[in-house]
Amino acid sequence: MNTEAKPSTQQRFFPIPVDALDHDVLQMDLYIKFAGQPGAPTLYRSSGLKFTPEDSERLAAQNLKFLYIPGNQHHVFRKSLAERLDRTFKDPSQARDQRARVVRDVCSKMIEDVLLFPGDAEPIAAVADISRNFADWSASDPKGFSHLLNMSSHDFYTATHMVNVGVGCGLLAKEVRPGDREFFTLAVQGGLLHDLGKRGVPSELLNKEGKLTPEEWKVMSSHPAAGFEELKQNPAIPEMVLSMVRDHHERLDGKGYPAKLDASRISPPARICAIVDVFDAITAARPYRGPTPPADTLKIMRDGRGTQFDADMFDLWERLVGQMLQADPTRAPAPSPEGPKLTLAGVADQDPACDHPTPPSIERNLYADNRRRFPRFAVSIHAAAQVVRAGKAMPVRRGEKFTVQVVDIGRGGLQIQTPWPLSLNDLLLIDLEIPGQQKVSRLARVVRVRRAGDAQWASGVAFMEAEGKAAA
Ligand SMILES: [Fe+2]
Ligand SMILES: [Fe+2]
Repeated sequence: MNTEAKPSTQQRFFPIPVDALDHDVLQMDLYIKFAGQPGAPTLYRSSGLKFTPEDSERLAAQNLKFLYIPGNQHHVFRKSLAERLDRTFKDPSQARDQRARVVRDVCSKMIEDVLLFPGDAEPIAAVADISRNFADWSASDPKGFSHLLNMSSHDFYTATHMVNVGVGCGLLAKEVRPGDREFFTLAVQGGLLHDLGKRGVPSELLNKEGKLTPEEWKVMSSHPAAGFEELKQNPAIPEMVLSMVRDHHERLDGKGYPAKLDASRISPPARICAIVDVFDAITAARPYRGPTPPADTLKIMRDGRGTQFDADMFDLWERLVGQMLQADPTRAPAPSPEGPKLTLAGVADQDPACDHPTPPSIERNLYADNRRRFPRFAVSIHAAAQVVRAGKAMPVRRGEKFTVQVVDIGRGGLQIQTPWPLSLNDLLLIDLEIPGQQKVSRLARVVRVRRAGDAQWASGVAFMEAEGKAAA
């Protein structure tokens, strides 16, 4: 009889950025995984021992930016993270924008954990902790809290979008029901979780330019119900949060989805989420267009006042955004002189008939996905990669080389494995040395990301079609 302990591959491990660890006595075990190391991470340091600045330096020298904690100790990390975030938010030695950036990045990481570990209560509990942090900050430093809303310079990426919608829902909830802390906290929580169901929507669809086919629309429009179904299994999730996840695409005129609810059945929190959701979806940059200035975004959204959006809440949001811009015009680009080009119907996940305008842009070529046109072959080689553009903070700097494992290859792209997740639409420059062939460099875009076992992420990357043609 095999008496070996249960293999550790059964254990879930959460990646933790080394930068997010305090130099102190450890309250949890830390695990490590080196590039190319097969199987689960191995124990690096047990709880009760100290993690020192020298340890951080040694890990950095080995280019290791992530350590791992076992899933059953996540709650310890969760608590320390909430405290650390609080210290960061209140740190007077850092500029407000810098603090806001760090808080957003850490929250985005937590939302990634929610997306990566379906049904796991721990990352969801971390979101509830953070919602309470948000409530404290909004009460003690409303100006600082409002700076957490990113109104420009961000790419549309599901986790960052969920963070931004969480912040925005808090801001609008405070206008709708001033002084109601519970309402504020749950509005934040609902915003942070609202697109949870998009985990099941392929990245090609989330970033598709132009009309969705009826089949694609069916998949896209399933995300509110999918998120709701998952969250309702968790007894800690309040009804208000569930209603925001399920109903944030419903419209007052009954033309929303998934249930075409009439106005009387759409709760105030879901109405709040609908406004903030569309605001962030339009302001954020997409692969096929740049960001839209907030003033233009409000003009676009005004078309939906009273039909798509609650009229009073829209007015509150418009006033609030106006006040934030007036207080600090550097937070967002000025409105375009020729006025907005986008229409409300052109917002990706809003409408089955959505038809994005397609401005002539080099980006159109850059993002052409030719991955599936060519046969692919399984390989096992390493390649050097560097980040050209990233949608979120990475454990490597832009231009810094890191090693990826290539597991299949074709003329259109590669599948690579990395010890930390890449983001959709990240651009990489990949140097490939295929035995018997000359070395080639390819610019590639990340078109899909999934978890591939413990502490490994598999990413499909598509070579930029324009590259070969440009050289011709
Ligand atoms: Fe959504
Ligand atoms: Fe959304």
